[in-house]
Amino acid sequence: MTDPSGPATASPPDVRVWDGLLRLTHWSFPLLILVMWWTAENDKWAWHRRTGLVLLGILAFRVLWGFIGPETARFASFVKGPRAVLAYLRGDTGAGPAIGHSPLGGWSTMVLLGAMLAQVSMGLFAGDPYDGMTGPLNPLVGVMLADTITEWHETFFNVLAGLIVLHLAAIVFYASVKHNDLVSPMLSGARPPLAGVAGIGPLSWGRGLGAVALAAGFALWIAYGAPPLT
Ligand code: HEM
Repeated sequence: MTDPSGPATASPPDVRVWDGLLRLTHWSFPLLILVMWWTAENDKWAWHRRTGLVLLGILAFRVLWGFIGPETARFASFVKGPRAVLAYLRGDTGAGPAIGHSPLGGWSTMVLLGAMLAQVSMGLFAGDPYDGMTGPLNPLVGVMLADTITEWHETFFNVLAGLIVLHLAAIVFYASVKHNDLVSPMLSGARPPLAGVAGIGPLSWGRGLGAVALAAGFALWIAYGAPPLT
């Protein structure tokens, strides 16, 4: 007897877009930036310094992951020239559906990562050795220069906050106007099936642990004032 409902067709699997380490890295940003802001506002300088070093390690990991991570994490796969950005803005999807950052999203990624790196790097030199907490690299610069860097560090936070607001506005724009939910894939790692797109493969834990170890070692080295390695 034949089954009246016909042969069971397996629904195509969701497409894996973002690996777990990239997602963990991403969600640590809002959390750590909130903590950094709160500790600065409430004079908790020891925690501000510790959290800053954790953020430095995570940013170092993200930079390494941009070279050895899965395809959607790699800078080479999403940093595109102005022609590709303009084509994207005109609505030209080029070779067809794709996963990962769009040409515009790729540049917003670089700007956000660059701004966070700039903010954390300034914090490493900031402070006054005769009055309160200093960043671990403060002894490498004179008091006057450290003072100037501290002012930039304070002012630049407003730029970073502005970029984050822009980032959130873009996410809301994509959800409400373009009906493109970018948040769910950043939470779960996957998006609904997309014809002709296979998605990223499984995470390479060897690479992941190697990158985490290197990044943690780098942050620890900076925490100790970047002593000579020989
Ligand atoms: C301090 C706050 C935040 C910072 C600094 C930040 C930074 C970033 C960065 C650097 C990326 C690129 C991911 C990568 O390739 O590593 C990214 C992507 C993304 N972020 Fe955030 N983010 C923040 C908060 C949020 C929040 C609160 C949401 C959601 C409500 C969000 C949603 C997303 C989404 C959906 C993407 C993927 C965009 C795409 O598909 O191209 N972000 N964010």
